[in-house]
Amino acid sequence: MKQLELPEPIRCMCTEHQMILSRLESLRSAANAGAADVAQLAHLATELLSILNAHIYKEENLLFPAVKTALGNREDALDILEAEHSQVTELRDILASLAEEPRPENVSDYRSRIANFASTAAEMMRPHIFKEDHVLYPLAATIVPKEQLTRID
Ligand SMILES: [Fe+2]
Ligand SMILES: [Fe+2]
Repeated sequence: MKQLELPEPIRCMCTEHQMILSRLESLRSAANAGAADVAQLAHLATELLSILNAHIYKEENLLFPAVKTALGNREDALDILEAEHSQVTELRDILASLAEEPRPENVSDYRSRIANFASTAAEMMRPHIFKEDHVLYPLAATIVPKEQLTRID
């Protein structure tokens, strides 16, 4: 598989993508099935939030700047992905408020907000992740110096 040829820090970020998508699916199905209580849903949301925060941090503070530098300080090189990141950040903020403010007195409303969030986030993130996995990460593996890539981990 092509993914196996990528350097370790980049492979790790591909794994994080899969974790994000699978946690979103777990969150959606836990909210829809009604089997998980509010505390369990909030816990799943908190776990996903922490994975998402670490991933966004790596991309925005380490990988994106390294790719732009390697492209000769092309500040506009990642405009599309960065615009998508403002949507990702908005979704992250919604997730943070869901994780911190469960309202046990209105459980069905909480469940439906979680389920809606998970569906919307998965729909937005799938194409973003596809671009990163298939375009940005292979490009980064080719043009960013290895010692810089190892700092991303
Ligand atoms: Fe991203
Ligand atoms: Fe990503």
